[in-house]
Amino acid sequence: METTPATNARPPIRVRKLDFPFADEDVPRWWFWNNPLITHGSNGLNLLFPEGERFFIRSVKHYMDRIEDPELLARIKGFFGQEGRHGREHERANEILERHGYDLSGFLRRYERWAFGFLEKRFPPILRLSTTVACEHFTATFAHNALTHEFVEGAHPIMQRLMKWHACEEIEHKSVAFDVLAAVDPRYSVRVLGLVIATTQLVGWWMLATKSLLDQEQLSPEELARYREEAERVRGEGGAVDWELIRGAFVEYLRRDFHPDQRDDYHLARAYLESIGEV
Ligand SMILES: [Fe+2]
Ligand SMILES: [Fe+2]
Repeated sequence: METTPATNARPPIRVRKLDFPFADEDVPRWWFWNNPLITHGSNGLNLLFPEGERFFIRSVKHYMDRIEDPELLARIKGFFGQEGRHGREHERANEILERHGYDLSGFLRRYERWAFGFLEKRFPPILRLSTTVACEHFTATFAHNALTHEFVEGAHPIMQRLMKWHACEEIEHKSVAFDVLAAVDPRYSVRVLGLVIATTQLVGWWMLATKSLLDQEQLSPEELARYREEAERVRGEGGAVDWELIRGAFVEYLRRDFHPDQRDDYHLARAYLESIGEV
């Protein structure tokens, strides 16, 4: 891993209005490795995105009038544009689940009411921003994982394109929220508190979302055991979760001199975006 900021390689943040033709595609119920556990693990995260990404935008927007650097202001605008499009496309992708008969409303109601209607209103703006900074470090880490492991190839083509496009843009804008926090409140304690909140919230809601979908499958214990065994094998072979990378992400975030650009992976985003003519 690089330890010097690779800011030279940082690309401009371009908003790409990809309109994924979800309605025209026959995305199967179990679109990821034909396995309900793998599929709903991914669906669970996808359910969190639309409202989660709107929260990121609100958190950064709150501090926008304190930012004077025109370059950072331009990157912030690009960040808003990209996250806005991610939320929109994931919302459209989530409609596929409803077309398959899954009920999303119960989970989404609880998630929106507690995470944003209750918690967000009680946290001070600076903690909302530092939570966003940590979440962005997670999404950039997942993005790196997705673009460097074959696991994602087991997804239906359109879902694969959605994941890869999202991953690339998460890498492109990975340092924006961080730079805003550094400009308005560079205290280490604030950044680390954001990591604690982001970790507990992300893990908790992701698990609940995944469970809410899996429960609707009504699988027998035998079926569940069989799919779990298969999922573990496929995840292991494809590098679904690179634990070394995830562990490293925590270690690096806890360094006092951490900056997201220290992980030099803008080239990963560029390579994929070039391959689809979207640089
Ligand atoms: Fe995003
Ligand atoms: Fe993001």
